[in-house]
Amino acid sequence: MLDIETILSQMTLEEKAAFCTGATPWSTLAIERLGVPSIIMTDGPHGVRRASDPNTLTAKSLPATCFPTASCSASTWNPALLQRMGEAMAEEAIALKVDILLGPGVNMKRSPLGGRNFEYFSEDPYLAGEMAVALINGIQSKGVGTSIKHYAANNQEFERFTISAEVDERTLREIYLPAFEAAVKRAKPWTVMCAYNKVNGTFASEHHQLLTEILKEEWGFEGVVVSDWGAVRDRVKSLVGGVDLEMPGPKHAHVRAVVEAVKSGQLSEEVLNESVRRMLRLVDKAMRTPKGGAFDADAHHALARQIAAEGMVLLKNNGILPLKGVKKAAVIGRSAREPYFQGGGSSNINPTRVDVPLDELQKQGEGIQWAYAEGYAADESLHPEMIDEAVDVARDAEVALIFIALPPSKESEGYDRQDLDLSRQQVALIQAVAKAQPNTVVILNNGAPIVMSEWIDGVAAVLEAWMMGQAGAGAIADILFGKVNPSGKLAETFPLRLADTPAYLNWPGEAGKVRYGEGLYIGYRYYDAREDAVLFPFGFGLSYTTFEYSNPRVSAQSFRDVDGVTVYVDVTNTGKVAGKETVQVYVHDRQASLSRPVKELKGFAKVELQPGETKTVAIPLDFRAFAYYHPEYHQWVTESGDFDILIGASSADIRHTLTVTLESTLELPCILDMESTVREWLADPRGKAVFGPMFDQMRTQMARMMGGDEASNELIGMDMMGFMMDMPVVSVLGFQEASLPAPAEMVVADLLAKVHGKA
Ligand code: BGC
Repeated sequence: MLDIETILSQMTLEEKAAFCTGATPWSTLAIERLGVPSIIMTDGPHGVRRASDPNTLTAKSLPATCFPTASCSASTWNPALLQRMGEAMAEEAIALKVDILLGPGVNMKRSPLGGRNFEYFSEDPYLAGEMAVALINGIQSKGVGTSIKHYAANNQEFERFTISAEVDERTLREIYLPAFEAAVKRAKPWTVMCAYNKVNGTFASEHHQLLTEILKEEWGFEGVVVSDWGAVRDRVKSLVGGVDLEMPGPKHAHVRAVVEAVKSGQLSEEVLNESVRRMLRLVDKAMRTPKGGAFDADAHHALARQIAAEGMVLLKNNGILPLKGVKKAAVIGRSAREPYFQGGGSSNINPTRVDVPLDELQKQGEGIQWAYAEGYAADESLHPEMIDEAVDVARDAEVALIFIALPPSKESEGYDRQDLDLSRQQVALIQAVAKAQPNTVVILNNGAPIVMSEWIDGVAAVLEAWMMGQAGAGAIADILFGKVNPSGKLAETFPLRLADTPAYLNWPGEAGKVRYGEGLYIGYRYYDAREDAVLFPFGFGLSYTTFEYSNPRVSAQSFRDVDGVTVYVDVTNTGKVAGKETVQVYVHDRQASLSRPVKELKGFAKVELQPGETKTVAIPLDFRAFAYYHPEYHQWVTESGDFDILIGASSADIRHTLTVTLESTLELPCILDMESTVREWLADPRGKAVFGPMFDQMRTQMARMMGGDEASNELIGMDMMGFMMDMPVVSVLGFQEASLPAPAEMVVADLLAKVHGKA
């Protein structure tokens, strides 16, 4: 619709600069004389937070469906549901005249303390990427744009505007970027939102390597990079770095700075033009979807309930659930009446309606006599009398359902959690009720893991209901009464103690930096490597039925990395009720040149099975399922050899292991240099060919020099070979210089010329 090059050629410098900055907190500049309309973007990520007046940052938003937050939706392991959630959100965006939804959030849960973890999917980049792809596809299939956020390494709230995430290249590539990469390559989000923080000392909003080299050039991102709201410090630097649109606006001083920078020659106008082109393409896309109308609030509420029910995770069940034959039940806990269904901050939705757990229980539990006790106050204050009251109603019933919600003072955007604990009052309440009533079920509403050691052994069942969205109450009732068979599985590990968590010693950073010292080892990668016990492992969740895995097989025992391989397994529902099971496939590299996690999730599939039914699931594994990022080659590398394929019901419940052989088709460039060690020269095929003969001579020479017998490897109380292997060749030769035709440096330079094909 827009003739981009013509419009660009007719825009003044001032218009271009202003066009790349918001006109209001939520909208872009209209250039009416050229027929370019304004577009509106609003949060995200689990509902539409459309400000009633886009000219104000904090105006109350219009009613929209509050879907379950990402912790819950990811625990569905059901991309098809996320796709439907995306479609529904897009319908609401269209009705509410929104062009772009600010989400999904795919930052990794580096620590369970992260204040915004409820908005993020997982501790695993593969799972987060799959969920993001599905949600984006759903939203964009209706002609509404998305903004995947916050790029990159925005994994905490502490000092979120300033802190520098100090993260090495391999960790960035293997842990913190892949969810963005998968989404950008496969779902093509219209926009990517850069983070507030610095990454290795440079603001994400000025990070040329992240925004331009990796995102735009390497991954081929053609959309708009938008700044997080207020992330831009220096507009000129951010344009050069790759931020096309600064939000929010207006920002007159920044616009002037851009104009002046172009006039003075400090900023090439071509850089600005490139951002304007991207912006025009974005507006053009948005214009193609007419906005307005209504949305089906009832249908979306029902969908929100379905997603919530599938994302809730049954963590413990001694058989009490689903409830049967109960005549008298006690409902305890404030959140049974005051549902805690979403988190604080920019994602906070004004819901179309909110279901209340106690009401939903009463609707489904006909004939049951209900009693209620509040149990705890809205804050963290102590009230022994509330506990006494709760114990009384619990004792008088056949079952006690305790609803526990984490106080919002403990988790929200803007601040991190200080601990993984419930309030003292809540712990004391659970303990006292469980003592009085053995049939106690705990229903948790929270956005991230909590510790449970003080009380879990005393209760009969635990349901993790998350920040479950506006229809979550009905989903809880569906699960407790067995109308829905729970099938959620954890998208993050629940640790036993805060001190066990991967980032514990490097959190939340100090003096302006947070060092990602645990490297690749976050989440289950860390607990696996240390063989640490956890409360509930990644991928775990109970069902009311049982599943058996059989007949595991692969499409090929040996295969080339570029061809990949498909894993098959038969899954049978061996219980009495229908249910859904998520089969998880992890890959273990038996031998690698660099350290690798014990296993990594590389595929999964969710199947629905009637009692007695068997289905075969097929899970394809591609090049990247076996590759790791090599920080010296600066590329993804596969190594020929054996890999174990672990097929499991969780990361800790591996049912079958198959071994396959991969043939790497990579031809790696030679990276030997003046500092390369003997070991490195011998490990490189070209290095070995030119250096091998010299190595034999060196060994003999060295032995003589040290006064030993050349056949012997043992000299001056050490292993001669072991001693030499990790010395640079140039240093070993340095000790033998008298017998060399030229100085050691020249000899190595000559070898290098040969391996690099220059001699
Ligand atoms: C948040 C973003 C959000 C934006 C607009 C920022 O503070 O970090 O996630 O999209 O505000 O509300």
